[in-house]
Amino acid sequence: MDAIRFDGVHKAFRRAGIDFVALEKVDLAIAPQEFVAIVGPSGCGKTTCLRMAAGFEFPTSGEVTVDGRIVTAPGPDRAVVFQQFALFPWKTVFENIELGLRNKGVPKAERGDRVAEAIALMNLQGYETAFPHQLSGGMQQRVAIARAYVLDPDVLLMDEPFGALDAQTRVVMQEELVRLARRNPRTVLFITHSVEEAVYLADRVAVMTRRPGRIKEVINVKPVRVAEHWDDHARIEDVMDLESFVHLRTRIWKSLRDEKGSQDR
Ligand SMILES: Nc1ncnc2c1ncn2[C@@H]1O[C@H](COP(=O)(O)OP(=O)(O)OP(=O)(O)O)[C@@H](O)[C@H]1O
Ligand SMILES: [Mg+2]
Repeated sequence: MDAIRFDGVHKAFRRAGIDFVALEKVDLAIAPQEFVAIVGPSGCGKTTCLRMAAGFEFPTSGEVTVDGRIVTAPGPDRAVVFQQFALFPWKTVFENIELGLRNKGVPKAERGDRVAEAIALMNLQGYETAFPHQLSGGMQQRVAIARAYVLDPDVLLMDEPFGALDAQTRVVMQEELVRLARRNPRTVLFITHSVEEAVYLADRVAVMTRRPGRIKEVINVKPVRVAEHWDDHARIEDVMDLESFVHLRTRIWKSLRDEKGSQDR
């Protein structure tokens, strides 16, 4: 059974009394423990797709199913990293990360251990008692990622999670995510504007059309992974020179470029 499915998903928003079609007919099936990245022009409906899988938004017609069940609400099986970090400003870093575990009923001692582990993973030691407004944008984003990781969910929904990070931290996070994904495979739906990031991280890359969004094509990028010099510790700068990487990146770039330009927003 597929972990996540979009079947003929159509989404219209009503704005100033007029229906505005955001998604036309989205079909996409993601297998359990598969890592799928979505790329597409700004405004094509990527976040809307992710929000429907999360249970924050619902299709106008068509179906979104997770683990064979139609999504009717958010659930503990799915963790979301939002494009905007969405931290609780009145809670500390520690409390923000801990909250989901608390809601799940995880005992206090175990919560402490797991939060500490997530804080170490995201390099946030020393900031446990800081409040979000005391952190940089990149640090806030790392707290948001830690908050999702700590839940150890079946499904990770990530909306441009590395978008606000500086180039160096971004690479560290990408490599960390690759290691994490190999060690502890999860179903991941990952939105990004970076084609390189998509090819480096994903098993398959879905390219969306400009608005109203559809899935234009889905490209298997796993061949990069079986290439020489690739293992779980492969660095992105080494992988980026591989022939298979260059070929796939160019192919996706061309597909995306066809969707730019005639954008009507
Ligand atoms: N709640 C809403 N009400 C009205 N229109 C909306 C709503 N949410 C999204 N839209 C519209 O739907 C379209 C798709 O938005 P969405 O945020 O999914 O795009 P996106 O692909 O994530 O873009 P970006 O790459 O810029 O993040 C946009 O034109 C947006 O204005
Ligand atoms: Mg978006």
